[in-house]
Amino acid sequence: MPTWDAEQYLRFNDERTRPCRELAARIAIAVPDRVIDLGCGPGNSTSVLAERWSKTELTGLDSSPEMIAAARQTHTHLTWLVGDIAAWANKNHQTYDIVFSNAALQWVDDHATLFPKLLTHVVAGGALAIQMPANYDAPAHRIMRELAASEDWRDYFPADGIREWHVHDLATYCDILAPVAAKVDFWQTEYLHIMEDAAAIVEWYKGTGLRPFLDALANDQQRSGFTAQYLEGIRRAYPVRRDGRVIFPFRRLFLIAYQQPLSLT
Ligand SMILES: C[S@@+](CC[C@H](N)C(=O)[O-])C[C@H]1O[C@@H](n2cnc3c(N)ncnc32)[C@H](O)[C@@H]1O
Repeated sequence: MPTWDAEQYLRFNDERTRPCRELAARIAIAVPDRVIDLGCGPGNSTSVLAERWSKTELTGLDSSPEMIAAARQTHTHLTWLVGDIAAWANKNHQTYDIVFSNAALQWVDDHATLFPKLLTHVVAGGALAIQMPANYDAPAHRIMRELAASEDWRDYFPADGIREWHVHDLATYCDILAPVAAKVDFWQTEYLHIMEDAAAIVEWYKGTGLRPFLDALANDQQRSGFTAQYLEGIRRAYPVRRDGRVIFPFRRLFLIAYQQPLSLT
């Protein structure tokens, strides 16, 4: 489990929150009573839910005490829980009108078991709504994997590689969710973020995808050496545009699975 830094993560708050807004806007439930935000981070996704449904009872759950502390400071009136999503899905029997998760389930494995289980926590007619990054093959990810496997660095990482994201293609999620949901709504969006320079892409990933790699290294000297070489690779892969800035394409996958309605028989 990588360590999390709320301040670093929130450096790109606008870009990271937009997919969350788009997911929340698409959920066809006008007035939910209870909503839970799994992997709520510092509460930015939960804030979006509070804006969309101001009268709803909202709970945020995250495994990082640092993230929950940051969330609690911003929204004192909401319920915040420190906990693991898979453990919550297995042990807890509470149900919600919406089980929501933005940019978190890519860190949790075995989606074929987990996602149907999450749907059992949704009331009749409610929704399981998920957004995950789907850019595992993008240069920014490929470069960190290749660097960790290179002669310079491979001795510092586990032989079986770093535990990375667990995102499949859309068709896999259709196979997992369509048989157990009343209706599914799936789509992908590629955002084209305009970043100040290549270093800004590295800063972005220092808040997420690079963390498991940096956590595996022994000290700050190794971490800054790895980050410097990563930056060189990013500079080569993302060319500078005429105005000096850099286009950073980022594909994301969206899933909404609606629970069966109440049977009237
Ligand atoms: C990229 S942040 C997303 C934060 C927020 N939902 C948002 O929309 O910006 C991912 C969050 O998932 C949490 N997380 C990762 N694995 C988790 C797990 N197994 N159980 C609970 N939270 C987890 C991390 O602590 C982190 O705060």
